[in-house]
Amino acid sequence: MRILGIESSCDETAASVIETLDDGTAKVLSDVIATQIAEHAPYGGVVPELASRAHLRAIRPVIESAVSESGGWDSLDAIAVTAGPGLAGALLIGIQCAKAIALARRLPLVPVNHLHGHLLAVFLDRALVVGDRPSFPFIALVASGGHTALYRVDSPEDIRELGATRDDAAGEAFDKVAKLCGLGYPGGPMIDRLAAKGDPTKIAMPRPMRARKSLEFSFSGLKTAVAMWVERNGVPAEGAGLEDLAASVQEAIVDSLVRKLIAASVQENVPRVVLSGGVAANRGLRARAQQECDRAGISLHIPPAKSCTDNAAMIAYAGAVRFAAGHRAGWDLEAAVRWSPGERDVPPYNR
Ligand code: KG4
Ligand code: ZN
Repeated sequence: MRILGIESSCDETAASVIETLDDGTAKVLSDVIATQIAEHAPYGGVVPELASRAHLRAIRPVIESAVSESGGWDSLDAIAVTAGPGLAGALLIGIQCAKAIALARRLPLVPVNHLHGHLLAVFLDRALVVGDRPSFPFIALVASGGHTALYRVDSPEDIRELGATRDDAAGEAFDKVAKLCGLGYPGGPMIDRLAAKGDPTKIAMPRPMRARKSLEFSFSGLKTAVAMWVERNGVPAEGAGLEDLAASVQEAIVDSLVRKLIAASVQENVPRVVLSGGVAANRGLRARAQQECDRAGISLHIPPAKSCTDNAAMIAYAGAVRFAAGHRAGWDLEAAVRWSPGERDVPPYNR
């Protein structure tokens, strides 16, 4: 089947058409993304009101390009749209657009959990950067600007959260530290680049939740620790000082992510782990995850960056899976600001 996916939960307006294949993967026929990074950069983070307005401007041309690149409206069998979790105003733009298209073209509409998209992106028909396609069950870490959590994925429809962050997401921690150091937005790629040349042992950073058996994360203390360090020492000038600070911060985040990832795999007795979300691009995280997985006899699987960061192909794929399982949205579909991936149905608005 051919399915159009629409994504607008945060700061990327995206549309994609995929075709499902008999082997359980899907061919990406088009994958269009309008990013709002420049709009939010002056604020060091996503401003919800600006995000909604930017989605409104971008969504029509983005959808039109995705559909025309893939063979036109008549070839579509269904529409999948991210219904949550995410920013209410941002989600509503995608949802209303999807409803309008479904109504006008008489196509079935499928509500998709954004996190299902991240968790299933590994099945898009694109070469992985590490490993091959995992078999079920697998453990997945989704680490992005908005989410950081570990999941056990037994099948595309059977997903259980094992632990999540209690406060900031890992990407948010990178972004907030970068903002404190005046490095610009998004901060993850900058810190990644600086950290590659720095010494992570130079500055001690906290490792919250380290001793605990739980699979939860906490990153807000890191931001406070960096703020206090900067207050005492000032922001280091470009060069070794800044590189050491970046390396120390990155090491603390990576340490926490990899430690819990391995613990989840051992706890569940599932020797396959997948990394997803924008932070999966981090070179320090990849290297450390590879090292620890090799040591523990666990296979590591990392999709390419364009599948890891927010995109609509992963939403279309998750939509195809849910369509096959009989899920449909009614015209009353609303934005589910909070929606745990373990819940099958879209929860009521504002819960
Ligand atoms: O998945 P994504 O594109 O969007 C969502 O937040 O959903 O992730 C963006 C996040 C940002 O916080 C960004 O700083 C972080 O991923 N990121 C990175 C790297 N590239 C992107 N963090 C660390 N290292 C990177 N190389
Ligand atoms: Zn995301």
